[in-house]
Amino acid sequence: MRVFISLFLLISSTRLHPSWAQYHYQGLMNYLENRMQAMEERISVWQEQAVRYGVDLKEFRQQAADVMERLARDHDKLRQELDSAGGKVERMEREMDYIETKNPPPPCSKAEDKMVEQKPMGKMKKTGELRGCMDLVFSIKAMKILKRMGSPKGTWTRDAVTAKVYAFNGTADDTLYEFSSVRALSSSSDPRAITLPVFWNGTGHTVHNGQVYYVTEGSELRVMKYDLQNDSMADSAVFPVDDHSPVFSLNQETIVDLVADEEGLWALYGSKDKVSLARMDANTLDIEQMWDTSCPRENAESAFMVCGTLYVVYNSKPPSRSRIQCVFDVNDMVNAEEAPLLYFPRRYGTHSSIKYNPHEKQLYAWDDGYQILYKLSMKKKGVFVN
Ligand SMILES: *[C@@H]1O[C@H](CO)[C@@H](O)[C@H](O)[C@H]1NC(C)=O
Ligand SMILES: *[C@@H]1O[C@H](CO)[C@@H](O)[C@H](O)[C@H]1NC(C)=O
Ligand SMILES: *[C@@H]1O[C@H](CO)[C@@H](O)[C@H](O)[C@H]1NC(C)=O
Repeated sequence: MRVFISLFLLISSTRLHPSWAQYHYQGLMNYLENRMQAMEERISVWQEQAVRYGVDLKEFRQQAADVMERLARDHDKLRQELDSAGGKVERMEREMDYIETKNPPPPCSKAEDKMVEQKPMGKMKKTGELRGCMDLVFSIKAMKILKRMGSPKGTWTRDAVTAKVYAFNGTADDTLYEFSSVRALSSSSDPRAITLPVFWNGTGHTVHNGQVYYVTEGSELRVMKYDLQNDSMADSAVFPVDDHSPVFSLNQETIVDLVADEEGLWALYGSKDKVSLARMDANTLDIEQMWDTSCPRENAESAFMVCGTLYVVYNSKPPSRSRIQCVFDVNDMVNAEEAPLLYFPRRYGTHSSIKYNPHEKQLYAWDDGYQILYKLSMKKKGVFVN
């Protein structure tokens, strides 16, 4: 920059002092020539270095590529090994399911049985405390047939908080049975028979936090709440459905299905040809929010909720294999590809009810008179597993 300024001064002064200017011009030329020569030298040094760096960089790239390739090969091998191990475990589980189906466990099964034994949670969880849980059902890992209780249809479930087990035998009665544990039920020990002040209809009952929630069908449809701690009716409310048609076409006796999950109490009901969903306040029986889902009622036999996601179970008439074929997430966090089509282990009946226990992550199902447990495995919502 300085060079150009002096050049400008020089040119503007030539008119005034030609000889002085000529002298300075020569000096400037010498100066520029020297600078250029120095620059050329430096450029040639740079060039040399650049070539050397280029070679180095190429070598480095080659080495990095080699390392990456080796890593990728190892990763593939590891993955293949994992896949084949996973396949073996799955096959073994299927075989175990099959053997268990062929040989239902005798009443009074062995003492240590993780799937059956479950301690009470102890302290009560406030409604909403678990809101925002992220579990998505990934597979039905195992099945266990506990007992056959007589009526082809009915409901059994376990309170996730008190860990007591309840059975509703049939589709209309005023009595329910309380067992201290799943083992007490499977060994046919005498239950506590509880006679409710108002009868129940259908198979849509649930027990949540020491309260029975059930549906009574009179001229109107009522949701009842019965306190099991002091055996008294705690509350009731009219459930606002227009038509009293069954929520699942394969279970005609159930108009409203009450279900509990990590997030609290929900009601499933029919509107037009689809299953609809309402979030209920478990304390007051208020309806907080309602959703229409895209899940058809046709050929649906039952449904359950896990972490705010609805899973509708379908079958056919005559019964074939039950499968989860429609999923609806109230928070829009689950898309169709992420929720795989899941088949239940092969049986020859229809589920009249499927109740999820959030504490144990298993399903309590009533299938053609049998009381069955299904153990679920979970993955996280929004995380893809290839
Ligand atoms: C359940 O109901 C069926 C049909 O009404 C009856 O035969 C059976 O004895 C009942 N079982 C129990 C445990 O009450
Ligand atoms: C509901 O249950 C009551 C009592 O068992 C019964 O009399 C009534 O017929 C049932 N209603 C329906 C629609 O099944
Ligand atoms: C039963 O217990 C609940 C609290 O656990 C209480 O709110 C209710 O008033 C009790 N009902 C009767 C009739 O004692």
